[in-house]
Amino acid sequence: MDKKHFLLYYLMPITVYLILVGLAYAVSPPPVDQKMGVYDTLFSNIAENNCRGCHALGVPGAHHNLVPTGEYGCTNCHPVLPDGSGITLIRDCIQCHDTTFNGIAIRRPHHETQAALDGHCKTCHGSLVDNYDDGHTIPTYAPSIMTPDTKFKVINQTSGRKWGGCESCHEENSTASPPIAFNNKTHHRLGNLSGFRNQDVSKCSMCHDTHNGVYGSDSIRYCERCHGTASLHNIQWDFSNTSQLPGYGHLGPNDCQGCHAWYVAGSLGPGFDLIVPTIVSLSTNKVFEGSATVLTIYGDDLVTTIDNVTRSSVVVVSDGTNNVTITPTNITSSEIIVSIPALTRGLYSIYALKDGNTESNKKPLVSVPKVIIGSARKVNSTNVLITGSGFGTYDPAYDNWTNVTIKRGSTTRSSQIISWSDTSINVLSSSARTGDTATINSVYGTNASTVTN
Ligand code: HEC
Ligand code: HEC
Ligand code: HEC
Ligand code: HEC
Ligand code: HEC
Ligand code: HEC
Ligand code: HEC
Ligand code: HEC
Repeated sequence: MDKKHFLLYYLMPITVYLILVGLAYAVSPPPVDQKMGVYDTLFSNIAENNCRGCHALGVPGAHHNLVPTGEYGCTNCHPVLPDGSGITLIRDCIQCHDTTFNGIAIRRPHHETQAALDGHCKTCHGSLVDNYDDGHTIPTYAPSIMTPDTKFKVINQTSGRKWGGCESCHEENSTASPPIAFNNKTHHRLGNLSGFRNQDVSKCSMCHDTHNGVYGSDSIRYCERCHGTASLHNIQWDFSNTSQLPGYGHLGPNDCQGCHAWYVAGSLGPGFDLIVPTIVSLSTNKVFEGSATVLTIYGDDLVTTIDNVTRSSVVVVSDGTNNVTITPTNITSSEIIVSIPALTRGLYSIYALKDGNTESNKKPLVSVPKVIIGSARKVNSTNVLITGSGFGTYDPAYDNWTNVTIKRGSTTRSSQIISWSDTSINVLSSSARTGDTATINSVYGTNASTVTN
């Protein structure tokens, strides 16, 4: 190597390093904000209110939809108290999920689904990550001085500031609520997925390689299976307002140095084209089977204009296998109004799909039956037959909750359930008269109608 190249290859980085130390204040402060993706904490720190933050109004419906499929009966989740004095109604997710409740071993949510075990993290995490098998580009050239480390490359011993890897910004904060965890912990405490829960070293290779792997065991090359260059270069919160500010993602001024300790800032990273959109909340996540619902989606970067090219989003509703794509009625950077077509009952996820290929984070959406009474007729002197849909299922042990009442003013008629299906209920009520009000209380809700002839 001649002298000139020697200077270029070996002395340049040192010079840039000194300049960088001076720029320390301009890089994102650790730990990073928690505006995008999933809050960086451990499952053990998640409490009922965190689960409800995403599952929202859909919680009862998501469970009660499992009854008509025959998978579960009321007694599985609401066991009758031993003394027969009533039944249990537990609402705290953590008392059931990832534990054994009433003799049922209930798996850990999310990371024991097939999608997760298959390494298809995008199914729920959207385009903040890649699926390892989606053909995205992983560099094959030898790692260089520019290549980010899984931890960091340079540290200022006085300030503690780091550069050149994920840890420059993604640091823990034990005083946050819930606490923000170190990257090794967020990835290692995913239950059986990461191989630590029931010690299974075959799982480590999803993110690491063996000690004699090409790059050693702990190289960014293995992380790139899910954190490809392009997906990393497209993470920024509220791009149109923050692209000139440090601390909102991977693209602000000097944020580049956080990963590329020796990079001279001033441009955008290759593969950068659009910004991953985020869904913050939905106007509701409970919709009714059989009817369309107008939904407002609140979010960020749903539309972005970069270099005069505008990229916009459509909305996708997925049951895991089938996707329905819907064009918004109205869309701005922070809000989408969309009419969701009728969905059959069940659990779905909803997300924004930008420019045909970039997925936002996902929110759960639950479709439940609506209690609709077609008619409540006195079919003979003793019986009232109610027909319609969405009546759900009936169990006599739960008569305090699921039942039919027949009333006129303050007069309550006798009523005994003879049969109950999703579409028809036969009530024995010798005292019922036409003009009375029949009310169905089902697990999906309540509705009433006048008894006719
Ligand atoms: C797979 C578990 C599961 C099954 C099966 C189930 N439930 Fe529930 N149910 C729940 C959970 C969990 C809640 C609490 C929902 C909440 O707090 O948001 C609940 C809530 C309820 C409530 C209170 C509604 C409210 O939010 O105030 C009633 C009433 C109820 N269930 C009745 C029944 C009946 C009757 C059956 C059988 C037809 C049944 N459930 C079957 C899990 C289940
Ligand atoms: C009384 C026990 C119990 C409680 C409390 C409970 N669940 Fe469940 N839940 C179950 C069981 C059992 C299933 C079915 C097994 C499974 O899918 O893991 C289930 C399934 C679910 C499903 C998937 C439904 C589907 O279509 O597959 C969701 C979502 C869910 N629970 C969320 C929650 C949330 C959020 C909470 C707290 C707000 C909660 N659960 C509280 C017992 C419970
Ligand atoms: C960051 C948002 C978020 C949080 C927090 C969250 N969930 Fe979920 N959950 C989802 C999404 C998205 C799905 C996927 C829906 C789909 O694609 O079917 C889901 C699916 C589920 C399922 C069905 C799939 C499975 O794993 O069996 C269960 C059960 C569930 N969640 C329970 C819980 C419980 C219990 C908590 C709290 C410990 C919780 N969730 C917290 C977003 C969340
Ligand atoms: C079924 C939906 C689902 C799938 C599939 C899924 N995740 Fe998650 N993930 C969640 C939800 C919801 C949370 C927050 C609640 C929890 O921890 O269960 C989460 C939390 C995390 C966290 C901790 C929070 C954070 O931001 O650091 C990591 C790390 C993570 N997931 C990695 C993965 C990896 C790796 C895969 C693929 C191998 C994967 N996930 C697949 C839904 C999912
Ligand atoms: C210059 C500081 C900086 C560096 C270095 C950095 N990040 Fe980030 N990263 C951020 C900020 C800020 C966000 C936005 C967080 C938010 O608002 O939720 C973010 C978000 C993310 C997200 C999506 C949301 C989340 O919190 O999970 C992923 C995935 C991510 N970073 C991965 C990485 C990986 C992998 C590395 C190392 C190769 C890395 N980051 C290095 C600042 C940084
Ligand atoms: C879902 C991805 C993922 C899986 C699976 C995984 N790791 Fe890690 N591991 C990480 C991340 C992220 C870090 C933190 C960055 C770093 O140190 O490289 C890490 C760090 C480490 C470290 C460095 C020391 C430390 O804790 O910071 C060791 C050793 C390690 N992992 C071993 C393992 C072993 C053994 C397994 C399997 C039992 C495993 N990992 C499975 C993602 C993973
Ligand atoms: C199997 C896929 C997968 C692999 C491999 C993987 N990650 Fe992640 N990583 C994720 C997912 C999923 C998230 C959560 C994104 C979100 O918040 O929605 C994540 C989040 C992150 C974040 C943001 C902070 C946090 O903890 O959420 C960092 C930093 C990170 N990963 C570093 C690494 C490093 C370093 C490695 C390699 C040692 C690695 N990851 C390997 C899937 C993966
Ligand atoms: C979160 C970490 C992270 C941040 C922040 C980041 N990059 Fe990158 N960048 C990577 C990774 C990983 C690679 C792949 C390089 C490797 O593995 O050797 C890469 C590669 C590159 C390359 C090499 C070209 C190629 O295709 O291999 C350039 C140039 C680049 N980045 C520029 C930038 C610029 C400019 C910024 C700031 C706007 C930036 N990067 C911010 C992680 C990041």
